[in-house]
Amino acid sequence: MKLIGSWILAGASLTQPVPFSHKQHTANVACNVCHATAEKAERAGMPAVSQCMLCHENVKRESPHIRKLAGYQKDNKPVPWVRVYRIPDFVFFSHATHVGAKVECAACHGPVEQRDVLAKEVATDMKSCIDCHKSRGASIVCNLCHELGQ
Ligand code: HEC
Ligand code: HEC
Ligand code: HEC
Ligand code: HEC
Ligand code: HEC
Repeated sequence: MKLIGSWILAGASLTQPVPFSHKQHTANVACNVCHATAEKAERAGMPAVSQCMLCHENVKRESPHIRKLAGYQKDNKPVPWVRVYRIPDFVFFSHATHVGAKVECAACHGPVEQRDVLAKEVATDMKSCIDCHKSRGASIVCNLCHELGQ
């Protein structure tokens, strides 16, 4: 039984602690404002609650969802967002090199700016990595992505 697979199945939507909508937020805020290290590091990064509260100290502050958000800030706790995309630890992957090579966010995550709720809609299995590498002339040697025989 692949339990992990049950929540990362393509198309399955996840219940987040606060119903954050990318569609509602990406018209005025660029991806890299909230995912600040997508161009410079392995991980794209997640926004701090304080970043949300820059607007939500005023915007919709009476909403129960925003009150919940303010509660995380007050308790000095990160929002426990449920991860959507995840690859195993034995695979090396860096956002910085892909974004630097002009691979769009949408090639690996779909049209995020049109989504109210994110789901894993693009596969990140070995075949998908290799298919794109072949089509873009990037290397497919095993130890590009794995440290084998160590
Ligand atoms: C640039 C300002 C801005 C930032 C930053 C921002 N929001 Fe918002 N948010 C808005 C606006 C504007 C709305 C729509 C309000 C409306 O419907 O009138 C909204 C709506 C929401 C709602 C729906 C509230 C409701 O009950 O209708 C949630 C939940 C929310 N935001 C969460 C977040 C979270 C979580 C973050 C941080 C990751 C965040 N927002 C960052 C401006 C912002
Ligand atoms: C206002 C802040 C904000 C902006 C702007 C924003 N995001 Fe997000 N992003 C979040 C938050 C909060 C989550 C966690 C909740 C969720 O998964 O919907 C998230 C989750 C994600 C995830 C899933 C991460 C995972 O694996 O769990 C992806 C992919 C993503 N964002 C891509 C984008 C892209 C691409 C853009 C620009 C088109 C963008 N985001 C713009 C706040 C933001
Ligand atoms: C070549 C494919 C690819 C591209 C391009 C890409 N991502 Fe990702 N993204 C992934 C993979 C794979 C993961 C899972 C990484 C892991 O588990 O270590 C991920 C994870 C994430 C996460 C979860 C948090 C994290 O840092 O791991 C966010 C947020 C995210 N991506 C946002 C973005 C944004 C924003 C862009 C564009 C600026 C982008 N991604 C471009 C493949 C990609
Ligand atoms: C949509 C296209 C695309 C997808 C999908 C993709 N890659 Fe890549 N990848 C590239 C391109 C283009 C390069 C060449 C970048 C360069 O070195 O200029 C690259 C380079 C790399 C490199 C070498 C550069 C570095 O960061 O060390 C690694 C490792 C890598 N990819 C891992 C992965 C993994 C793992 C996946 C799947 C989870 C993946 N890639 C999915 C397009 C893609
Ligand atoms: C472009 C990146 C990339 C390259 C090149 C690559 N792999 Fe992988 N490999 C992955 C990813 C991503 C996974 C994890 C897939 C998942 O999410 O389960 C993986 C998983 C695996 C696994 C675990 C079992 C499985 O199938 O999930 C083995 C074994 C493996 N790779 C061997 C290899 C060998 C041998 C080569 C060379 C012929 C190779 N890989 C080349 C990205 C790559």
